Amino acid sequence: MKEGTAALFELETSLPDARLKTQAERLVGFKARYDRIHQDLRLLIDKEGLENWSKKHYHNRLPLLDSLFDRYPLVVFHGDVGTGKTATAEAVTNALAGELGKGALLFKLSTRVRGSGNVGEMSSLINQAFDIVGEEAGKAKLSFLIIDEADSLAANRSGSQSHHEDKVAVNTLIQKIDDVRRFNGRVLVILCTNRYEALDPAILRRAAYVEEFRRPDDGERREILNLDCEGLGLTASAIEELVQLTGTHGPHKLGYTFSDIRTRLLPEALVHAYPTRKINHTDLIDAISRVAPSPTIFTTEDRV
Ligand SMILES: Nc1ncnc2c1ncn2[C@@H]1O[C@H](COP(=O)(O)OP(=O)(O)OP(=O)(O)O)[C@@H](O)[C@H]1O
Ligand SMILES: [Mg+2]
Repeated sequence: MKEGTAALFELETSLPDARLKTQAERLVGFKARYDRIHQDLRLLIDKEGLENWSKKHYHNRLPLLDSLFDRYPLVVFHGDVGTGKTATAEAVTNALAGELGKGALLFKLSTRVRGSGNVGEMSSLINQAFDIVGEEAGKAKLSFLIIDEADSLAANRSGSQSHHEDKVAVNTLIQKIDDVRRFNGRVLVILCTNRYEALDPAILRRAAYVEEFRRPDDGERREILNLDCEGLGLTASAIEELVQLTGTHGPHKLGYTFSDIRTRLLPEALVHAYPTRKINHTDLIDAISRVAPSPTIFTTEDRV
């Protein structure tokens, strides 16, 4: 990590990365999602591949390619809390780098770029971050930039809670997103948010691809429970009961998120068994009564 960039990026890593590969393998539904979206994302960053395709099949460079690269290399991942947006964004960049067979860098913007409230600080930090990402892309590499919790940086400028500083930052962000087009497919920006409606319309208009994330359905909860409870010795019918109890027909009348199951429910069951005995079915059922699913994020529109 370069000096001074720690304040800008919470993650800065070269791809392909073994940790991110393992992360993808433990994400339920990742492969299916990647299979569905990778071509759309690839068209945003694979300039060389498209040029070769055009030459091979049409024996010249099609004007269509210019139109493709007129688009903004901006992708939005949105949806409920704990549904895997951040983890998927990281895993997707890793898989794309692998698919293109190119070395790439992944930067994840830190929420610290909001700064400490000094005038112009947020804009200046955003500028610095994009400069670094662009510099790396300029070295003929591919750079991915993940802007997590994007609603905190890219909130609608017309909102009543939007302060002058926030508006300036959104303007800067828009300008920077316009700017990355000049890298001709060497930079891809992924915004993650659980408050899609809160994003500024000018940012949303620029998104070339938007992907929604939802709480897991019965099949996906079955899959994560089977994956994470492997070796515990639970019967198929015990798993099935957990699938039902963690869904909308369960005691909380709200489905558990992936994160609720993996990072809250299962540790809660373990707490009662560890270190003296094995986890049993009752530990899991009891954990469900003690751990409620995360509340859904309500948007401003929902409240009125
Ligand atoms: N598809 C999935 N399969 C298995 N586990 C998942 C999945 N999605 C999320 N998780 C678990 O939930 C944790 C949180 O996921 P992540 O941070 O990606 O969610 P998010 O959608 O970004 O949430 P937030 O809106 O709160 O930022 C992951 O570290 C992982 O343990
Ligand atoms: Mg997240």
